[in-house]
Amino acid sequence: MKSSPRSAAIEEIDKTRVPEHVAIIMDGNGRWAKSKGHIRLFGHRHGVKTVREIIEAASEIGVKYLTLYAFSTENWNRPQSEVNGLMELLVETIKDETPTLMEKEIRLKTIGNIEQLPAKCNLQLAETVEATKEGKRMTLILALSYSGRWDIIQAVKKIARDIQSGKTTPENIDENALNSALNTGEFPNPDLLIRTSGEQRISNFLLWEIAYSEIHFSPVLWPDFKREDFYRAILDYQSRERRFGKTSEQMLPH
Ligand code: IPE
Ligand code: IPE
Ligand code: MG
Repeated sequence: MKSSPRSAAIEEIDKTRVPEHVAIIMDGNGRWAKSKGHIRLFGHRHGVKTVREIIEAASEIGVKYLTLYAFSTENWNRPQSEVNGLMELLVETIKDETPTLMEKEIRLKTIGNIEQLPAKCNLQLAETVEATKEGKRMTLILALSYSGRWDIIQAVKKIARDIQSGKTTPENIDENALNSALNTGEFPNPDLLIRTSGEQRISNFLLWEIAYSEIHFSPVLWPDFKREDFYRAILDYQSRERRFGKTSEQMLPH
């Protein structure tokens, strides 16, 4: 059955080719709130509902890693009231969701300079990471106070210190060495990157890791982004041919 642009059903998804790792730039909360005559935080609160729905949808179809860009290094420059509101919302949400994550066997991980977050956030994150650590169904990675350039810089510093202490040499630096020094070192690279809200940019997200990711831009604002929109992104991914620099002919099974 051919799907209309607004509908994408779970049955259409090829379960044997589900992306292992999906990363999402959740954008558009502020514009969504503004269009309804509310303050930006109203949009962030509604955005949490979408977060819940997409985590569920992703784990149901068999995604193994889901990375959500929740707060960037640059987002610290927003008005103090918005930053405070987002931090409050973060603690509240993580706390509320912990039993569900445990029940659904989803393990929480973070990437980013989380030491910069208020102590309350850090404590809650540590508690939930610990409580969910046995989760085998899916890994949920929250990018908090994260930016791709920040991560590359901290990785380079780590490697430089290892050279200084004699643990490694410049000749030993290769893709694997840099990979494992990154915050994302223990995860596979994203197969699919989604950005909502119609913006078509990366905004300092996983710069190193998205080298060969497929990118899906959705015009939908994050609080309006539903399960069907997520399925559409997966179907779009499944319609692509990933060539990794090779020719189309080389990608045929032989
Ligand atoms: C994304 O929505 C959430 C965060 C960056 C925390 P925005 O707050 O960026 O919403 P817009 O882009 O202003 O609409
Ligand atoms: C990217 O969105 C960061 C997150 C979604 C957390 P922004 O709204 O901050 O990005 P720009 O400013 O539009 O590039
Ligand atoms: Mg934005």
